[in-house]
Amino acid sequence: MSFGNMPIANGFVKKRISKEKLYTFDMAPAFCTNCSTFQLLNQPAAEMMFHKNYAFRTRTSAFMVQHFRNSADAITNNYFKNNTNKKALEIGCNDGVFLERLNELGWKTLGCEPSANVAETANKFGVNTIEKFFEAASADDIKSEIGLVDLVYAANVMCHIPNINDVAEGIAKILKPSGFLIFEDPYLGSMLDRVSYDQIYDEHVFIFSALSVQNIFSKFGIQLIDTISLNTHGGSVRYVLQKTSKNYPSPKLIQLEQDKKMDQIGVYEEFKLACERSKNQFIASLAKIKDNNHPIIGYAATSKSTTVLNYTGIDDSVIDKIVDTSPEKWGKFTPGSNIPIEQYQLDCLDKYQNAVLFAWNHFHEIDAKETNFKARGGNWISHVKL
Ligand code: TMP
Repeated sequence: MSFGNMPIANGFVKKRISKEKLYTFDMAPAFCTNCSTFQLLNQPAAEMMFHKNYAFRTRTSAFMVQHFRNSADAITNNYFKNNTNKKALEIGCNDGVFLERLNELGWKTLGCEPSANVAETANKFGVNTIEKFFEAASADDIKSEIGLVDLVYAANVMCHIPNINDVAEGIAKILKPSGFLIFEDPYLGSMLDRVSYDQIYDEHVFIFSALSVQNIFSKFGIQLIDTISLNTHGGSVRYVLQKTSKNYPSPKLIQLEQDKKMDQIGVYEEFKLACERSKNQFIASLAKIKDNNHPIIGYAATSKSTTVLNYTGIDDSVIDKIVDTSPEKWGKFTPGSNIPIEQYQLDCLDKYQNAVLFAWNHFHEIDAKETNFKARGGNWISHVKL
């Protein structure tokens, strides 16, 4: 299936530019019936997406900060309670929240982060971080820096990596025998259930399932031994894998996915139709509000918003502006749809009765924060069920 020509999701522009003049790619995901991966067929070059101006910072969300601190505690307690001199490598450590907590818990850690601005912040917070893409070729350099590690961790990173086999090979090189690979990413099953097609954007080359993770990593002697469902990013799974030649029983999620026929093409054909229905409903619901001359504001200029806006064709003639807490985005415009992005202010929703919640995956955090909007009966709009 194709979602049409898509700009870079985080490619917020300094002035209004027509979509025809922007770099775009055909955003076409496909399902592989051999290895059960759901992945993009084309992707922009990595340097176009992860660079010194990379706009996402974990520390902008109090909820995510808490999530990663809790994750560090849970992973340490569940898998490494009796280990001494524990060492961890995080691939794509962003601004270092997870490793900062591991450091507090006595781990020796190293972050590997290709985006200079966030890597710099991680270092500022005392998290030893090198500015690099992790790959099989760089695994040896990294090994000379920290040695073999007990844990390789990644959050919302593996799904960004097109050369996943190369990275899996690098992970196998750097893990101690019996070392763990633990990573979490948006879950394919949740995307199918919620029709949250905006999980698909340039950076997310894969939307993983337990089946696909098992198929990819087992080729490198790393076995999927457990899965944990998470409510982050609109439904994620933490995959727990171990470098081992022992045969573990498959996690229950594998059977569940087979029962839901997620290893068969029909489910994805149905998803395509569901996306088209969702698009038509979204356009119609915003048109109805505009027909009544009510203004519409957008809340959070997320990467996902680029998919929604470009797939549905909604632009600055429908949405006045989007408010966001990330300084990098202020004064810019959404790519392809040219909606101005303004600094989030406490009173920014006051003049609005209708707000498109692009950060629908943070609904509970945001709804709890926007007490006035809620008290006035403000209407959160989203293409997914909130
Ligand atoms: P992402 O979904 O691409 O990670 O982007 C999240 C964006 O949402 C980021 O720019 C910050 C913004 N945001 C807000 O503006 N307000 C909020 O309350 C939250 C949770 C996020």
